[in-house]
Amino acid sequence: MEKNPMLSSQKEKFSLPPEVSYLNCAYMSPLMKSVEAAGIEGMALKKTPHLITQPDFFDQADQLRQAFARIIHVEDPQRIVIIPSVSYGIATVAKNLHLSPGDKIIVAGEQFPSNVYAWQKLTASRRGVLTTIAPPETLSHRGKIWNERILEAIDGHTRMVAIGHVHWSDGTKFDLAAIRRRTHEVGALLVVDGTQSVGALPFSVQELQPDALICAGYKWLMGPYGIGMAYFGEYFDGGDPLEEGWITRYGSENFSGLVNYQDQYQPQSLRYEVGERSNFILVPMLLQALQEINQWGIANIQQYCRVLSEPVTQALIDKGYSVEDAHFRGSHLFGIRLPSHLSMDNLHRRLQEKKVYVSVRGKSIRVSPYLYNDAEQMEKLLSCFGS
Ligand SMILES: Cc1ncc(COP(=O)(O)O)c(C=O)c1O
Repeated sequence: MEKNPMLSSQKEKFSLPPEVSYLNCAYMSPLMKSVEAAGIEGMALKKTPHLITQPDFFDQADQLRQAFARIIHVEDPQRIVIIPSVSYGIATVAKNLHLSPGDKIIVAGEQFPSNVYAWQKLTASRRGVLTTIAPPETLSHRGKIWNERILEAIDGHTRMVAIGHVHWSDGTKFDLAAIRRRTHEVGALLVVDGTQSVGALPFSVQELQPDALICAGYKWLMGPYGIGMAYFGEYFDGGDPLEEGWITRYGSENFSGLVNYQDQYQPQSLRYEVGERSNFILVPMLLQALQEINQWGIANIQQYCRVLSEPVTQALIDKGYSVEDAHFRGSHLFGIRLPSHLSMDNLHRRLQEKKVYVSVRGKSIRVSPYLYNDAEQMEKLLSCFGS
Protein backbone atom coordinates (compact mmCIF):
# COMPACT_ATOMS: atom_id res chain seq x y z
CA MET A 1 0.00 0.00 0.00
CA GLU A 2 2.74 2.45 -0.91
CA LYS A 3 0.37 4.50 -3.09
CA ASN A 4 -1.34 6.74 -0.51
CA PRO A 5 -0.87 10.30 -1.72
CA MET A 6 -0.29 11.64 1.79
CA LEU A 7 -0.94 10.16 5.19
CA SER A 8 -2.74 12.27 7.75
CA SER A 9 -1.69 12.37 11.41
CA GLN A 10 -2.23 9.03 13.12
CA LYS A 11 -2.15 10.42 16.67
CA GLU A 12 -5.57 8.92 17.44
CA LYS A 13 -3.98 5.49 17.27
CA PHE A 14 -1.61 6.39 20.11
CA SER A 15 -2.12 7.40 23.75
CA LEU A 16 0.35 10.26 24.09
CA PRO A 17 -0.89 13.09 26.35
CA PRO A 18 -2.01 16.05 24.19
CA GLU A 19 0.27 18.54 25.97
CA VAL A 20 3.35 16.46 25.10
CA SER A 21 5.25 16.95 21.83
CA TYR A 22 7.08 13.65 21.63
CA LEU A 23 9.77 14.00 18.96
CA ASN A 24 11.94 11.18 20.19
CA CYS A 25 10.96 7.98 18.40
CA ALA A 26 14.68 7.25 17.92
CA TYR A 27 14.81 6.79 21.71
CA MET A 28 11.69 4.67 22.11
CA SER A 29 8.42 4.61 20.19
CA PRO A 30 5.13 4.90 22.06
CA LEU A 31 2.76 1.93 21.80
CA MET A 32 -0.24 2.12 19.57
CA LYS A 33 -3.54 1.33 21.30
CA SER A 34 -3.95 -1.72 19.08
CA VAL A 35 -0.46 -2.95 20.02
CA GLU A 36 -1.19 -2.45 23.71
CA ALA A 37 -4.42 -4.46 23.28
CA ALA A 38 -2.52 -7.29 21.56
CA GLY A 39 -0.11 -7.40 24.50
CA ILE A 40 -2.90 -7.49 27.08
CA GLU A 41 -4.58 -10.30 25.16
CA GLY A 42 -1.29 -12.20 25.04
CA MET A 43 -0.79 -11.75 28.77
CA ALA A 44 -4.33 -12.90 29.52
CA LEU A 45 -3.74 -16.07 27.55
CA LYS A 46 -1.18 -17.20 30.12
CA LYS A 47 -3.91 -17.17 32.78
CA THR A 48 -5.53 -20.03 30.91
CA PRO A 49 -2.73 -22.21 29.54
CA HIS A 50 -5.18 -24.95 28.60
CA LEU A 51 -6.16 -22.58 25.77
CA ILE A 52 -2.59 -22.35 24.44
CA THR A 53 -2.36 -24.85 21.62
CA GLN A 54 0.51 -26.31 19.64
CA PRO A 55 -0.10 -24.08 16.59
CA ASP A 56 0.14 -21.04 18.90
CA PHE A 57 3.87 -21.71 19.13
CA PHE A 58 4.22 -21.33 15.36
CA ASP A 59 1.42 -19.43 13.64
CA GLN A 60 1.97 -15.90 14.92
CA ALA A 61 5.73 -16.22 14.57
CA ASP A 62 5.14 -17.20 10.92
CA GLN A 63 2.89 -14.18 10.43
CA LEU A 64 5.44 -11.92 12.10
CA ARG A 65 8.19 -13.08 9.75
CA GLN A 66 5.88 -12.55 6.78
CA ALA A 67 5.00 -9.02 7.92
CA PHE A 68 8.67 -8.12 8.35
CA ALA A 69 9.59 -9.77 5.03
CA ARG A 70 7.10 -7.42 3.38
CA ILE A 71 8.63 -4.36 5.05
CA ILE A 72 12.15 -5.16 3.85
CA HIS A 73 11.22 -6.80 0.51
CA VAL A 74 12.23 -10.38 1.15
CA GLU A 75 10.49 -13.16 -0.73
CA ASP A 76 11.21 -16.05 1.61
CA PRO A 77 10.01 -15.39 5.19
CA GLN A 78 12.22 -18.24 6.40
CA ARG A 79 15.12 -15.86 5.90
CA ILE A 80 13.64 -13.76 8.71
CA VAL A 81 14.55 -14.45 12.31
CA ILE A 82 13.04 -13.34 15.63
CA ILE A 83 15.75 -12.00 17.94
CA PRO A 84 15.64 -10.37 21.40
CA SER A 85 18.07 -7.52 20.70
CA VAL A 86 20.53 -6.10 18.21
CA SER A 87 23.44 -7.43 20.26
CA TYR A 88 22.01 -10.94 19.80
CA GLY A 89 21.74 -10.56 16.02
CA ILE A 90 25.24 -9.10 15.81
CA ALA A 91 26.62 -11.90 18.02
CA THR A 92 25.13 -14.38 15.52
CA VAL A 93 26.96 -12.64 12.70
CA ALA A 94 30.18 -12.57 14.72
CA LYS A 95 29.98 -16.27 15.50
CA ASN A 96 29.70 -17.11 11.81
CA LEU A 97 32.06 -14.60 10.25
CA HIS A 98 35.20 -16.11 8.76
CA LEU A 99 37.86 -13.64 9.74
CA SER A 100 41.55 -14.27 9.08
CA PRO A 101 44.52 -12.40 10.56
CA GLY A 102 44.83 -9.01 8.86
CA ASP A 103 41.20 -8.95 7.72
CA LYS A 104 39.49 -5.62 8.21
CA ILE A 105 36.05 -4.83 9.64
CA ILE A 106 34.83 -1.31 8.91
CA VAL A 107 32.44 0.63 11.13
CA ALA A 108 31.39 4.29 11.23
CA GLY A 109 32.62 6.61 13.98
CA GLU A 110 30.56 6.66 17.19
CA GLN A 111 28.37 3.84 15.95
CA PHE A 112 25.91 2.32 18.43
CA PRO A 113 27.85 0.02 20.84
CA SER A 114 25.80 -3.12 20.08
CA ASN A 115 27.34 -2.98 16.60
CA VAL A 116 30.89 -2.24 17.79
CA TYR A 117 31.85 -4.28 20.87
CA ALA A 118 31.44 -7.62 19.06
CA TRP A 119 33.84 -6.42 16.36
CA GLN A 120 36.37 -5.14 18.89
CA LYS A 121 36.41 -8.56 20.50
CA LEU A 122 36.46 -10.55 17.26
CA THR A 123 39.25 -8.55 15.65
CA ALA A 124 41.29 -8.79 18.88
CA SER A 125 40.89 -12.57 19.14
CA ARG A 126 41.53 -13.29 15.43
CA ARG A 127 44.23 -10.67 14.90
CA GLY A 128 41.97 -8.75 12.53
CA VAL A 129 41.74 -4.97 12.24
CA LEU A 130 38.79 -2.83 13.28
CA THR A 131 38.76 0.31 11.17
CA THR A 132 36.58 3.16 12.38
CA ILE A 133 35.76 5.84 9.84
CA ALA A 134 35.17 9.10 11.67
CA PRO A 135 33.14 11.94 10.16
CA PRO A 136 35.04 14.99 8.91
CA GLU A 137 35.49 17.90 11.31
CA THR A 138 33.68 20.25 8.96
CA LEU A 139 29.90 20.65 9.07
CA SER A 140 29.78 21.60 5.40
CA HIS A 141 28.87 18.54 3.26
CA ARG A 142 29.74 16.38 6.26
CA GLY A 143 27.57 13.45 5.16
CA LYS A 144 28.93 13.42 1.63
CA ILE A 145 32.56 13.50 2.77
CA TRP A 146 31.91 10.86 5.45
CA ASN A 147 30.44 8.53 2.84
CA GLU A 148 33.39 9.12 0.52
CA ARG A 149 35.79 8.23 3.33
CA ILE A 150 33.95 4.99 4.00
CA LEU A 151 34.07 4.00 0.34
CA GLU A 152 37.79 4.82 0.14
CA ALA A 153 38.48 2.60 3.16
CA ILE A 154 36.96 -0.52 1.56
CA ASP A 155 39.81 -2.47 -0.01
CA GLY A 156 41.00 -5.99 -0.71
CA HIS A 157 41.61 -6.62 3.03
CA THR A 158 38.05 -5.73 4.00
CA ARG A 159 36.03 -8.68 5.23
CA MET A 160 32.92 -6.77 6.28
CA VAL A 161 31.33 -3.36 6.59
CA ALA A 162 28.97 -3.27 9.61
CA ILE A 163 27.00 -0.03 9.60
CA GLY A 164 23.56 1.55 9.98
CA HIS A 165 21.44 2.99 7.18
CA VAL A 166 21.41 6.23 9.17
CA HIS A 167 23.66 7.18 12.06
CA TRP A 168 21.78 6.74 15.31
CA SER A 169 22.85 10.03 16.85
CA ASP A 170 22.11 12.51 14.05
CA GLY A 171 20.50 10.65 11.15
CA THR A 172 23.42 10.99 8.71
CA LYS A 173 22.48 8.68 5.87
CA PHE A 174 24.98 6.15 4.60
CA ASP A 175 24.88 5.37 0.89
CA LEU A 176 24.30 1.65 1.24
CA ALA A 177 23.93 1.13 -2.50
CA ALA A 178 27.43 2.51 -3.11
CA ILE A 179 28.84 0.62 -0.11
CA ARG A 180 27.24 -2.58 -1.41
CA ARG A 181 28.75 -2.08 -4.88
CA ARG A 182 32.20 -1.55 -3.40
CA THR A 183 31.93 -4.46 -0.92
CA HIS A 184 30.86 -6.73 -3.77
CA GLU A 185 33.89 -5.62 -5.79
CA VAL A 186 36.27 -6.67 -3.01
CA GLY A 187 34.29 -9.69 -1.81
CA ALA A 188 33.34 -8.21 1.58
CA LEU A 189 30.12 -8.66 3.53
CA LEU A 190 27.64 -5.89 4.27
CA VAL A 191 25.86 -6.13 7.62
CA VAL A 192 23.32 -3.42 8.39
CA ASP A 193 21.92 -2.35 11.75
CA GLY A 194 18.51 -1.11 10.63
CA THR A 195 17.27 -0.16 14.10
CA GLN A 196 17.13 3.58 13.38
CA SER A 197 15.68 3.34 9.89
CA VAL A 198 13.77 0.18 8.98
CA GLY A 199 10.07 0.89 9.38
CA ALA A 200 10.38 4.59 8.60
CA LEU A 201 12.87 4.73 5.72
CA PRO A 202 12.44 2.43 2.71
CA PHE A 203 14.88 -0.48 2.74
CA SER A 204 14.85 -3.27 0.17
CA VAL A 205 16.84 -6.44 0.65
CA GLN A 206 16.12 -7.28 -2.99
CA GLU A 207 17.81 -4.08 -4.12
CA LEU A 208 20.61 -3.73 -1.58
CA GLN A 209 21.37 -7.39 -1.01
CA PRO A 210 22.88 -7.04 2.47
CA ASP A 211 24.28 -10.24 3.96
CA ALA A 212 22.46 -9.54 7.21
CA LEU A 213 20.06 -6.92 8.53
CA ILE A 214 19.49 -6.58 12.27
CA CYS A 215 16.74 -4.43 13.83
CA ALA A 216 15.51 -3.74 17.34
CA GLY A 217 11.70 -3.67 17.42
CA TYR A 218 11.01 -0.91 19.92
CA LYS A 219 11.80 2.16 17.81
CA TRP A 220 10.72 2.48 14.16
CA LEU A 221 9.02 -0.91 14.12
CA MET A 222 6.65 0.44 16.80
CA GLY A 223 6.92 -2.71 18.86
CA PRO A 224 7.52 -3.55 22.52
CA TYR A 225 10.94 -3.75 24.17
CA GLY A 226 12.74 -7.11 24.09
CA ILE A 227 12.01 -8.33 20.57
CA GLY A 228 13.59 -7.52 17.23
CA MET A 229 13.84 -8.88 13.71
CA ALA A 230 16.74 -9.94 11.55
CA TYR A 231 17.40 -11.13 8.03
CA PHE A 232 20.24 -13.54 7.28
CA GLY A 233 21.28 -14.19 3.69
CA GLU A 234 23.02 -17.12 2.05
CA TYR A 235 26.41 -16.47 3.64
CA PHE A 236 24.94 -17.71 6.91
CA ASP A 237 23.40 -20.89 5.50
CA GLY A 238 24.51 -23.93 7.45
CA GLY A 239 26.10 -21.79 10.20
CA ASP A 240 26.17 -22.12 13.97
CA PRO A 241 23.40 -20.51 16.02
CA LEU A 242 24.15 -19.00 19.42
CA GLU A 243 21.87 -21.52 21.17
CA GLU A 244 20.65 -25.04 20.59
CA GLY A 245 16.94 -24.89 21.42
CA TRP A 246 14.20 -27.37 20.62
CA ILE A 247 12.02 -25.21 18.38
CA THR A 248 14.75 -24.45 15.85
CA ARG A 249 15.24 -28.15 15.11
CA TYR A 250 13.56 -29.99 12.30
CA GLY A 251 10.11 -31.38 13.16
CA SER A 252 9.66 -29.32 16.35
CA GLU A 253 5.99 -28.89 15.36
CA ASN A 254 5.47 -32.46 16.54
CA PHE A 255 5.50 -32.09 20.33
CA SER A 256 5.24 -35.81 20.96
CA GLY A 257 8.45 -36.42 19.00
CA LEU A 258 10.72 -33.83 20.64
CA VAL A 259 13.05 -36.39 22.15
CA ASN A 260 13.64 -38.01 18.80
CA TYR A 261 16.65 -35.70 18.82
CA GLN A 262 17.30 -34.18 15.42
CA ASP A 263 20.60 -33.11 13.90
CA GLN A 264 18.80 -31.11 11.28
CA TYR A 265 17.55 -27.56 11.86
CA GLN A 266 14.44 -25.81 10.62
CA PRO A 267 14.94 -24.50 7.05
CA GLN A 268 16.91 -21.50 5.81
CA SER A 269 17.81 -19.02 8.58
CA LEU A 270 15.41 -20.23 11.26
CA ARG A 271 18.20 -21.92 13.20
CA TYR A 272 19.24 -18.46 14.40
CA GLU A 273 16.04 -17.69 16.31
CA VAL A 274 16.20 -16.99 20.02
CA GLY A 275 14.92 -19.53 22.54
CA GLU A 276 11.24 -19.07 23.47
CA ARG A 277 10.76 -16.97 20.37
CA SER A 278 7.04 -17.83 20.41
CA ASN A 279 6.65 -15.24 23.22
CA PHE A 280 2.86 -14.95 23.51
CA ILE A 281 2.97 -11.30 24.55
CA LEU A 282 5.75 -9.74 22.48
CA VAL A 283 5.11 -11.57 19.19
CA PRO A 284 1.44 -10.52 18.78
CA MET A 285 2.38 -6.97 19.79
CA LEU A 286 5.12 -6.62 17.21
CA LEU A 287 2.95 -8.38 14.63
CA GLN A 288 0.15 -5.86 15.17
CA ALA A 289 2.63 -2.99 14.87
CA LEU A 290 4.13 -4.32 11.61
CA GLN A 291 0.67 -4.84 10.14
CA GLU A 292 -0.15 -1.19 10.86
CA ILE A 293 3.15 -0.10 9.30
CA ASN A 294 2.49 -2.20 6.20
CA GLN A 295 -0.93 -0.58 5.88
CA TRP A 296 0.59 2.89 6.02
CA GLY A 297 3.51 2.07 3.72
CA ILE A 298 7.11 2.95 4.56
CA ALA A 299 7.53 5.51 1.77
CA ASN A 300 4.43 7.29 3.05
CA ILE A 301 5.80 7.36 6.59
CA GLN A 302 9.05 8.90 5.38
CA GLN A 303 7.10 11.36 3.26
CA TYR A 304 4.96 12.39 6.27
CA CYS A 305 8.12 13.00 8.30
CA ARG A 306 9.62 14.99 5.42
CA VAL A 307 6.62 17.31 5.24
CA LEU A 308 6.84 17.86 9.01
CA SER A 309 10.60 18.31 9.16
CA GLU A 310 11.41 20.44 6.15
CA PRO A 311 9.98 23.79 7.32
CA VAL A 312 11.76 23.39 10.66
CA THR A 313 15.13 22.40 9.26
CA GLN A 314 14.97 25.24 6.72
CA ALA A 315 14.02 27.80 9.37
CA LEU A 316 16.85 26.60 11.61
CA ILE A 317 19.41 26.74 8.80
CA ASP A 318 18.24 30.31 8.11
CA LYS A 319 18.86 31.12 11.78
CA GLY A 320 22.43 29.81 11.61
CA TYR A 321 21.99 26.29 12.99
CA SER A 322 23.61 23.35 11.20
CA VAL A 323 21.59 20.50 9.75
CA GLU A 324 22.97 17.84 7.39
CA ASP A 325 22.20 18.24 3.65
CA ALA A 326 18.76 16.74 2.94
CA HIS A 327 20.21 14.07 0.65
CA PHE A 328 22.44 12.76 3.44
CA ARG A 329 19.97 12.49 6.29
CA GLY A 330 16.66 10.91 7.11
CA SER A 331 13.53 13.02 7.51
CA HIS A 332 12.48 10.86 10.47
CA LEU A 333 15.76 11.43 12.33
CA PHE A 334 18.02 14.43 12.08
CA GLY A 335 20.52 16.34 14.16
CA ILE A 336 20.59 20.07 14.79
CA ARG A 337 23.91 21.60 15.83
CA LEU A 338 23.95 24.88 17.68
CA PRO A 339 26.03 27.87 16.59
CA SER A 340 28.89 28.20 19.09
CA HIS A 341 27.56 31.41 20.70
CA LEU A 342 24.26 29.79 21.76
CA SER A 343 23.79 28.01 25.04
CA MET A 344 22.48 24.47 25.17
CA ASP A 345 21.20 25.12 28.72
CA ASN A 346 18.68 27.73 27.56
CA LEU A 347 17.44 25.49 24.78
CA HIS A 348 17.16 22.57 27.16
CA ARG A 349 15.12 24.64 29.59
CA ARG A 350 12.72 25.84 26.89
CA LEU A 351 12.24 22.31 25.59
CA GLN A 352 11.38 21.14 29.08
CA GLU A 353 9.00 24.03 29.74
CA LYS A 354 7.11 23.35 26.53
CA LYS A 355 7.15 19.58 27.03
CA VAL A 356 8.98 19.02 23.77
CA TYR A 357 10.83 15.71 23.94
CA VAL A 358 13.98 15.29 21.86
CA SER A 359 17.41 13.85 22.67
CA VAL A 360 20.16 16.27 23.61
CA ARG A 361 23.70 15.12 22.92
CA GLY A 362 26.59 17.51 23.53
CA LYS A 363 26.18 20.39 21.08
CA SER A 364 23.63 18.49 19.02
CA ILE A 365 19.89 17.88 19.28
CA ARG A 366 18.39 14.71 17.82
CA VAL A 367 14.85 15.16 16.53
CA SER A 368 12.85 12.13 15.45
CA PRO A 369 9.20 12.71 14.49
CA TYR A 370 6.59 10.15 13.50
CA LEU A 371 2.97 9.86 12.42
CA TYR A 372 1.64 10.94 15.83
CA ASN A 373 3.31 14.36 15.44
CA ASP A 374 1.84 17.34 13.62
CA ALA A 375 2.87 20.73 12.25
CA GLU A 376 1.81 22.51 15.45
CA GLN A 377 4.22 20.42 17.50
CA MET A 378 7.00 21.13 15.03
CA GLU A 379 6.26 24.87 15.41
CA LYS A 380 6.56 24.44 19.16
CA LEU A 381 9.94 22.76 18.67
CA LEU A 382 11.08 25.60 16.45
CA SER A 383 9.98 28.20 19.01
CA CYS A 384 12.44 26.71 21.52
CA PHE A 385 15.44 27.65 19.39
CA GLY A 386 16.79 31.14 19.90
CA SER A 387 18.84 33.16 17.42
C1 LIG B 1 21.46 1.97 16.06
C2 LIG B 1 21.03 1.20 17.26
N1 LIG B 1 21.25 -0.11 17.30
C3 LIG B 1 20.86 -0.85 18.35
C4 LIG B 1 20.23 -0.29 19.44
C5 LIG B 1 19.80 -1.15 20.58
O1 LIG B 1 20.67 -2.26 20.74
P1 LIG B 1 20.26 -3.50 21.63
O2 LIG B 1 19.06 -4.11 21.00
O3 LIG B 1 21.46 -4.39 21.56
O4 LIG B 1 19.98 -3.00 23.00
C6 LIG B 1 20.02 1.09 19.45
C7 LIG B 1 19.41 1.77 20.61
O5 LIG B 1 19.40 2.96 20.73
C8 LIG B 1 20.41 1.84 18.32
O6 LIG B 1 20.19 3.18 18.25
